[in-house]
Amino acid sequence: MIIHDTEGRIFTLQTHSTTYQMKADQNGVLLHTYYGPKIQQGDLSRLIRYADRGFSPNPDEAGSDRTYSLDTLPQEYSGSGAGDFRLPSLEVERRDGSYVADLRYAGAQVLGGKYALEGLPAFFGSERDADTLVITLEDPAAALRVELLYGVFEDCDLITRAVRIINDGDQPVRLHRAASLCLDFPAASMDWVTFDGGHVKERRPNRAPLRPGVQSVGSIRGISSHQHNPFVMLCEPQADEEHGVCYGAALLYSGNFEAAAERSQFDDIRLTMGIHPFHFCWTLEPGQAFTAPEAALVCSPNGFGQMSRQFHRAVRGHLLRDPWRGRRKPVQVNSWEAFYFHYDQQRLLQFAKESAALGVELFVLDDGWFGRRNDDSSSLGDWFPNEEKLPGGLPALSAEINALGMEFGLWIEPEMVSEDSRLYREHPDWVLNAPGRPYTRGRCQLVLDYTRPEIRDYIFQTLQKQLDEANVSYIKWDMNRSLAQVWSAAIPAQRQGEVYHRYVLGVYDLLERFRQANPNTLIEGCSGGGGRFDMGMLYYTPQIWCSDNTDAIDRLTIQYGTSFAYPPSTMGAHVSAVPNEQTGRSVPFDTRGTVAMSGTFGYELDLGALSQEEKNQVIRQIQAYRESYDLIQTGDYYRLSVPTPDGQPTAWLHVSADRRTALLCVVSGQAHAGAPFRRIKLRGLDPTLRYRAAEEELWPGDMLMQAGYPLPMLGEYQCLRLWLKAE
Ligand code: GLA
Repeated sequence: MIIHDTEGRIFTLQTHSTTYQMKADQNGVLLHTYYGPKIQQGDLSRLIRYADRGFSPNPDEAGSDRTYSLDTLPQEYSGSGAGDFRLPSLEVERRDGSYVADLRYAGAQVLGGKYALEGLPAFFGSERDADTLVITLEDPAAALRVELLYGVFEDCDLITRAVRIINDGDQPVRLHRAASLCLDFPAASMDWVTFDGGHVKERRPNRAPLRPGVQSVGSIRGISSHQHNPFVMLCEPQADEEHGVCYGAALLYSGNFEAAAERSQFDDIRLTMGIHPFHFCWTLEPGQAFTAPEAALVCSPNGFGQMSRQFHRAVRGHLLRDPWRGRRKPVQVNSWEAFYFHYDQQRLLQFAKESAALGVELFVLDDGWFGRRNDDSSSLGDWFPNEEKLPGGLPALSAEINALGMEFGLWIEPEMVSEDSRLYREHPDWVLNAPGRPYTRGRCQLVLDYTRPEIRDYIFQTLQKQLDEANVSYIKWDMNRSLAQVWSAAIPAQRQGEVYHRYVLGVYDLLERFRQANPNTLIEGCSGGGGRFDMGMLYYTPQIWCSDNTDAIDRLTIQYGTSFAYPPSTMGAHVSAVPNEQTGRSVPFDTRGTVAMSGTFGYELDLGALSQEEKNQVIRQIQAYRESYDLIQTGDYYRLSVPTPDGQPTAWLHVSADRRTALLCVVSGQAHAGAPFRRIKLRGLDPTLRYRAAEEELWPGDMLMQAGYPLPMLGEYQCLRLWLKAE
């Protein structure tokens, strides 16, 4: 709900458990008065104290009042160069070379339903789900208008923000920074939590008290990156899964981003998030507008668990546009870790036949099917089948796969080109590269200039032809390098600072075209695993390959970190062979299944090469996947422990909305002789109900939550999957 007190110029956004408030003060400065656990009513600007602070200057409107300074006031969207020395939200260069941005309130509008952003991902909602607030700020000297957009989803405690900057003047201006989000907190100790790692070790939570000054994470790789996720948290120092106030902020963006938190000289805190200012410079001609991507906020009064569950609810209900919604997703087998590039039609069909016999429903042909692609050094861009490997091409193969009762899926990497390709030989100028400089290659490949519509058109046409000819119901859209030498031959010198962002807009444009041309096809995102696992991509690709690391024990940590913002249904996860390709570790088959089942579930190994006992396990696993599908995909997710490299078990729980059904998953760590008996305290159950645990006796909900469930002795890396059903 949005409450607009027109007289007091106060805007209060109320969600189920939180309140967010702003007020345009007597000088037209839009103050941020509060964000946190719910407060029913009131003008919260009374919480703000004023004092004369040395070296904190005063704007002209303050007259002789030296206690009024932009440097000390909590602001909704900070300017720059006008006396606020904390993190700026907006940096603008005018034609005359001045760099000041100084915004004042100009008006507001409340609308039913959720606003949309043209060409950019955004949460969606009808009038039943959401409301929109648009607050207009102005900088008259620069003739700039800034619209702050807010989407309020009451049920899931979600507040979205986006910003539109409009040039109302008759001179061009250059934007050097346009944050999506600025959020000020009063003086307090807070912890800063980021999700960091690298290729094959994505999204590990890192938590530390916020020190004085700016702490930031971001990406200048052109993709949101394996190294830092565009999701961060701020929380009270005592916050944990169940307790304490915490704030999560996600950026719906898949390119360069920056998330920064600053603890000021007076210990108040500012969080900003948006496109990374590195190499960003956007020229706004008179009359033009620039839209900064959407950011999404959830505040939880009761720890991280509630925040995650609210994000999960919001993502599932208002972000994913899943063409397979309402239908159980088929169990897939993917050819990558089974064969890499080394296959032919016969081998694939044998593989498919054996997979189908075990109950697999979707066959995904990964890399290696096109051009002369027999390793990763060639053929990207040549999107026609390799007839030597696949006589009759994709139509023949997909028909054979369909005849086995399976759907057919295909890997593509449309943003790339290999130098050894027909496409590159015809269009060497289609790549991003700084003029006069040798290439910086990544995985032997170059990046196509997606800022250019004619290149996107070409890729669309050639790939769509393959999709039209074969019966493709799933696409894995991969992207396997960071951007470097970023320069476009189609953009004038003074506008090269737009290329990184225009590239992302180009990717979104093409994804949307493929979505619309193939309305029943599911697109899974991938970037060497989780290099572009962000809410921007999720808008187009409702699931994303979580990591190239398929070791079930490492995956515990990766999926744990990912779950803070993203629901299990979005996490691509497969059972792969042992010893694992990445770690050399051998984890029991059951455990590999349990871990993959708390994601999208599938196989990434040659099922035909398994022993009969393992094949029987596959059949049982697929049965178990079907039984737990609804609960895992739509239920509430509880992290019960932090994965650790030592002997501690890792546990998590899926609970149905009515709290009558739950699935406890536990994976034990390294084995040590003489280990203690452990109990796992469950959460989210109904304390008054009694739950039957598999075939055992009944367990009261309060006992399971207060005293815990006593784990059996589990050997190294073994697992437990325990159903609990209320009677
Ligand atoms: C990336 C993906 C893998 C696989 C290979 C194919 O690394 O993450 O899953 O598709 O590319 O080259």
